[in-house]
This record gives sequence, structure tokens and C-alpha cells, in this order.
Amino acid sequence: MDKNFNYSSLKLGIIGGGQLGKIMSQKAKKMGFHVTILDPTFNCPAAQVSDKHIIGGFHDSVKLEQLVQETDVTTFELEHVDTSILKELYDAGHRIHPSPYVIELIQNKYEQKKLLDENGIPVPAYKDVESDEDLASFGFPVIQKTKRDGYDGKGVLMLKTAEDIPDAIKTESFIEELIDIDKELAVIVARNREGEVKSYPVVEMLFDDRVNICDSVMAPAKISKEIEEKALEICEKSIQVLKGVGIFGVELFLTKSGELLVNEIAPRPHNSGHYTEEACATSQFEQIIRAVTNLPLGSTKLISPAVMINLLGEEGYQGEPFIEGIHEALAIPELSFHFYGKTYTKPFRKMGHITVLDDDIDKALEKATQAKDMLKIKGSKRI
Ligand SMILES: Nc1ncnc2c1ncn2[C@@H]1O[C@H](COP(=O)(O)OP(=O)(O)OP(=O)(O)O)[C@@H](O)[C@H]1O
Ligand SMILES: [Mg+2]
Repeated sequence: MDKNFNYSSLKLGIIGGGQLGKIMSQKAKKMGFHVTILDPTFNCPAAQVSDKHIIGGFHDSVKLEQLVQETDVTTFELEHVDTSILKELYDAGHRIHPSPYVIELIQNKYEQKKLLDENGIPVPAYKDVESDEDLASFGFPVIQKTKRDGYDGKGVLMLKTAEDIPDAIKTESFIEELIDIDKELAVIVARNREGEVKSYPVVEMLFDDRVNICDSVMAPAKISKEIEEKALEICEKSIQVLKGVGIFGVELFLTKSGELLVNEIAPRPHNSGHYTEEACATSQFEQIIRAVTNLPLGSTKLISPAVMINLLGEEGYQGEPFIEGIHEALAIPELSFHFYGKTYTKPFRKMGHITVLDDDIDKALEKATQAKDMLKIKGSKRI
């Protein structure tokens, strides 16, 4: 897309129609673009706000090709996608960003880690698992991970002792040393086709211990200037190494001894970057569109400290969702409420989120926690 391209008729294709695709689509519509979504679910969140919905799975090569052929630029809201047809189309000159080669590399967490490690990015010690003996090579406890298809903590297992070996993951996997984590940090990094890189502030992720899902995000993280600068440098270097175009969520561990290690990279908008919509000059969802359509990247400046909390489906319910406590919660000042429009809730499903701003980050956390205690996403059926 050169400078003479007529942006007023730009057609964007998004693979995946969940909450990330929905908000990306809303930003693309704000910029006047035409949006087509590929997703298997009728009336999925992004289909509710886009121009066209191609109903098809992420491994359906006919539908993937249709999306690419019908649009000017294709991007992703998820990485679990069949890349073979996309690689052919990319090689034939279609604009697909990040490239399917980058997506393919990221799909394999072991290969991803190896590439980062070989390029001098600090990562936890790791080892390929080819036999049960390999599982024991770092001693116990140890973390075992599937190479592919893991998300929201599924595909991550702790083997406490050698006695857990019979219950180990049976698919392709690797082990990682168990890190003594002080904080889990994340940085959203944008890179456009010219190689321009911009990163957002370092944030801190807090997890729901019951299910290992990122539950809340504090922006900025409470860390020293020195750690912050080092984290930004490591994250930007990781994306330079990948040569990815788009938006990347880089997850890091800050260890109790003050070391920074990259955990993994998501090649798309990331849950830890939701806060950017209200708290930064350019949201991650607009930034990805700028990056993949060859427009200048927007400012990543933090306008206000913010806390984001995910609204997960309540335990014990499924079915059509009902929101409890919305009147009380929305009375809290500087609170922004997001509900994704999923027609079915189940325990711990990501149904929406809130972002709360405050000049004082501790007050933002306090207000967000109050709101979270009021808001309950229940379902039409008790289970
Ligand atoms: N080596 C490790 N040592 C200690 N804890 C770890 C290690 N690796 C992962 N974890 C814990 O498990 C969580 C999930 O791991 P990881 O990010 O690799 O999996 P995931 O399924 O891709 O998760 P998500 O989709 O939530 O990002 C981490 O956020 C961290 O809390
Ligand atoms: Mg993770």
C-alpha cells in the first residue's frame, strides 16, 4: 500500500471474531474501513459490528483464501490458524500481517523460545521432551508445556515430583525451569512495515489462581525505572528478532532476584493491552490497523494510570448471560464497561471487562475491585 493508495475504500480482513476482533473491527470502522470477519460462529462478537461475516473455521483453507482474496489486508485476532494456504497467498503477494511465517513460528512455543534464546533474549531454561527421562532433567518441581495449541493456562502443567510423570502431557511438549516469580509483566509492542517500533508502558498482570487466567492488569506496573527500561529493551528486541508486522503482546517474568525473562509472545492484540483503549493516546486495537495497513504508528503515551479487570462467567452458571450489579458498578467514576456480546456464558469464560482510570493507581485498583465485586455474569442455567 503506497502513499497513493485510496484508504477510503480499504478492505480489512480479520481472522477470528471474538472480543479482540470485535474491538479491532470497531476501530477500523472508526477509520472508515470496510471489515470482513472470518469466524465459525454465527453472530459472534465481531460479526455484530463488521460489514461482512464469512462463516468458516480457522483451518478451512477455502474460507481463509476467500477472506484474503476479498480484502486488501488480512490480520489475526488469534494464532491457532492453519498457515499453509496463507503462506501460499502471502508468497503470491497478498498482504497478510503478521506474515503466516511469523504466526507459524509463534504457534510452536518451543521453537519461539529457541529463536528468542538464540538471539540473546533472556528466557527460562527449557528442554525438549522426547522421553520420560527428559521430564526429569531439571529435577522437580518443573513446568511442562505443550508446544502447540495452549491458551489461558491450558497446556501448562506443574510436575511436583517424579510421581507425577504418569500424568504428564502426552502430546509434543517441553519443560521449563520453575521460575520464582515476583511479578508477571507485559508489554504491547507495535511494529509497522517500515520496521518502526513503538512500545506501550510496562504493565503488571494479576492472575485468577483458580484457573490461571489473567484477571487484572495494572498500568503502569509498580517497578523501578531501571527494570522498566530493561523490560522495554528486551520486548522491542524480541519483536525485531521476529520481524513481525502488527501488534505483539510480550509476556515477561520478573524473578524474585530481579531478573527479567520472556515467557511468550502473542502475535495480536493482547488482554494485557485492553486498558490502552481508555488510558493511552492510541489504543492497541487502532495501532494494529495502522501497523498492518502501512500507516504511521500512533503515540503510545499513557494519559492516565488505569486498572483493567476481566469479567469472567460466574462459576455454577451457563447459558444466556445476565449481568448483575451493572447500575451500582457504573456509578463508579471513570469506569468504562465493555461487554462482548457473547450469547453463551460458562464458568470463567471471558465475557467482558472494565477499565478504571484514576490519577492514583491504588485508587484505580480499589475502584475496579469494588466494581468487580458488584458485577456478576450469571447464566440462564445453574450447573
Ligand atoms: N516457567 C514457569 N515458571 C513458573 N510459572 C510459570 C512458568 N511458565 C508459566 N508459568 C505460569 O503459567 C501461566 C501460563 O503460562 P503460559 O503463558 O506459558 O501459558 P498460556 O496457556 O499461553 O497462557 P495465556 O494464554 O494465559 O497467556 C503463566 O502466566 C505463569 O503464571
Ligand atoms: Mg501466557
